[in-house]
Amino acid sequence: MAGPVLSVSGLTKRFRKFEALVGVNLSVEPGTVFSLLGQNGAGKTTLIKVLLGILKPSEGTARVLGYPVGSVQARRKIGYLPEDHRFPEYHTGPSLLEFYGGLQGIPRHERRKRIGFWLDRVGLGGRESVRIRGYSKGMKQRIGLAQALIHDPDLVFLDEPTDGVDPVGRREIRDLMLDLKRMGKTLFLNSHLLGEVELVSDRVAILNKGKMVREGSLTELTGGRPSWIFGFAKDPTTFRKTLMTLGVPNTYLDSNQASPFHQWEVFPKSEQVLGELVKLAGEDPGGLRFLHPRRESLEDVYLDSLGKKEAAST
Ligand SMILES: Nc1ncnc2c1ncn2[C@@H]1O[C@H](COP(=O)(O)OP(=O)(O)OP(=O)(O)O)[C@@H](O)[C@H]1O
Ligand SMILES: [Mg+2]
Repeated sequence: MAGPVLSVSGLTKRFRKFEALVGVNLSVEPGTVFSLLGQNGAGKTTLIKVLLGILKPSEGTARVLGYPVGSVQARRKIGYLPEDHRFPEYHTGPSLLEFYGGLQGIPRHERRKRIGFWLDRVGLGGRESVRIRGYSKGMKQRIGLAQALIHDPDLVFLDEPTDGVDPVGRREIRDLMLDLKRMGKTLFLNSHLLGEVELVSDRVAILNKGKMVREGSLTELTGGRPSWIFGFAKDPTTFRKTLMTLGVPNTYLDSNQASPFHQWEVFPKSEQVLGELVKLAGEDPGGLRFLHPRRESLEDVYLDSLGKKEAAST
């Protein structure tokens, strides 16, 4: 498909007077993973529901897979794992997938094959006779994923896909997401797990009280403040003096008491200053032991964009 899979412009959603989404713009390219971050109540699920055509926007426009939101053509190519989904408990995994596969119009013989394939793929193979009432939280998420994927959608909305899943299961779901991306599918992910988002996403957007406060690739979001960590065996007296004379902003990292090293985080203004510091550090009697760049983590960017960074570090 040429052009973006999702394009949203000036989207506002009001529930009576309450604005859950305010003037949201975004565009998602095919074959990429787009993640939406934000605190509880930020509007993430509301945005997915608007994009699915479940909720009507109050203002603005949204197109999905080249169609206006909610169109039947678009819906056929969309998969959706809702947050807090509750599937009828009397179903087993296979009967639930049979039901959803039927709704999606997949022919009977094809359904058989796909049900077996997806149960295995999400790690529920061998548990076919268990009813959903007997599922653990992780199993519920897994069957939810299979339900979202059984009709081979091009675009998949996953609202907190690893909620309640153990670390091994989270890794499996992450690998599944990367596999789907390799197959050329587009993923729209809502998550609170920043480490996970960092590992799978191409682009990330941060919603704060319905407003999109940041949007960009991971490199764009986390590359804004490059710094360098210098680690010495002993107090590097010459290096310290040089930092002062050159007026290079720096912080002594004493937060990690267990570390045997004297570490400085340094913010050189230019390549030239960095070069000088590297040379001097190598000659310092304190003994340089390591030197590495430090990017901001997604958590730094997230807390910063919500104005919470200082609060979190005190
Ligand atoms: N049907 C509704 N009627 C009234 N208010 C609603 C409705 N749906 C959502 N809201 C409100 O809109 C805001 C955004 O809710 P939403 O569920 O989109 O948040 P979220 O970012 O998905 O949060 P969470 O991380 O907790 O899932 C909340 O304040 C919520 O109370
Ligand atoms: Mg939500």
